[in-house]
Amino acid sequence: MEKQRLQFPKGFLWGAATAGHQIEGNNVNSDWWAWEHGQMRENALRKEGKNPAQFYSGIACDSFNRFDEDFGLAQYLNHNATRLSIEWARIEPREGEYNEKALDHYEKVLQSAKFHGFTTFVTLHHFTSPLWFARKGGFAEQQNIDHFVRYVKLATKRLSQYTDFWLTFNEPEIYSNLGFLRGRFPPQIKSVRIMLRVIRNIISAHNLCSEYIRHEIRQPVSIAYHLSDLQPTGFFGHLSAGLAHYIANRYILSRTINACDFIGVNYYFHHHIGLFGKRGKSQSGHEETDLGWGIHPEGLERVLTSLIKYKKPIYITENGLADAHDTKREKFIKDHLYFAHRAIKKGADVRGYLYWSLIDNFEWDMGYGPRFGLIAINRESLLERKIRYSALKYGEICKNNYLEY
Ligand code: BGC
Repeated sequence: MEKQRLQFPKGFLWGAATAGHQIEGNNVNSDWWAWEHGQMRENALRKEGKNPAQFYSGIACDSFNRFDEDFGLAQYLNHNATRLSIEWARIEPREGEYNEKALDHYEKVLQSAKFHGFTTFVTLHHFTSPLWFARKGGFAEQQNIDHFVRYVKLATKRLSQYTDFWLTFNEPEIYSNLGFLRGRFPPQIKSVRIMLRVIRNIISAHNLCSEYIRHEIRQPVSIAYHLSDLQPTGFFGHLSAGLAHYIANRYILSRTINACDFIGVNYYFHHHIGLFGKRGKSQSGHEETDLGWGIHPEGLERVLTSLIKYKKPIYITENGLADAHDTKREKFIKDHLYFAHRAIKKGADVRGYLYWSLIDNFEWDMGYGPRFGLIAINRESLLERKIRYSALKYGEICKNNYLEY
């Protein structure tokens, strides 16, 4: 069959996303750093027969020093946008003590992003917090919200010359779930009650920060929401899928959407929902990523069209896969873009796509195993950067602003 040319809207933003702790290295004043080096974590890894040394973020990709090189590669790949996060733990390493050098550093990072021609998306909280904040109970305590708001005011004011879009939080759904309900991420709490408190406080924090960013900084703000495609199976599946959709995709969104100028969408998952909740992986013979996550590009169309009713611009702030051998990435990206394009035709105001991730990086509790990058990082050879073939293919789409499909 002859290929069709799918044109994306004029001014569409193309790029990739990263997060501070995952790429910078030596984020020593953060709760994650403390957790990675804690006895509890190390013992748990040893019990699983794993070597804790392989699960420290350590120097990460050394992007703290190599950011200009990374942006240069992204520019070479025809990106016109980038998403990164700044580390609160560097900016306020101790309560009330702001580190001017860290702010200067992020100013330089963003200047470099601008120098390379990017529209910038900056996340203020991407899973990590300063250790002192976590020790005070973090977002589980209502009185701590002010600490976050103070940091956000300071950082947004200082950096706004080089920023275009702000994201207060990355995936509050995942952050609250893995850290406070499932006990997988620090602080490894398992409590519905505490998780709900965290969610409530994050909602308030977002709404307060958004007020400031909109009125004082006068730049658009949102959250990078983790939105999944949940499809019912069986008669009772409809009931539970509706409930699951509300809890997983709408609880936080519906309480923060009025304080958002656009919608950030992180899309990774599709689940079939039966009477008793999730029904495992893909059912329709779809391929899987290296992490065993089913690949369901068609779900992206449903996620995007379900947002039309909010009447806001949409940016896909994350979408990607772990694929060490780069055998699935090109198709993955093209398929997802095909369904994003279908959503646009149906009326979803999608204005950008940021692949996760620009470079292979520290995949949280899974260490450096999963390879999400458009650019490979050789951890055996001075963190050498090597552009993957799929990155070149994605780069053609970025350049053309259309997809041949
Ligand atoms: C997170 C990233 C993470 C990616 C892949 C997203 O949920 O925002 O930090 O690396 O998923 O797991």
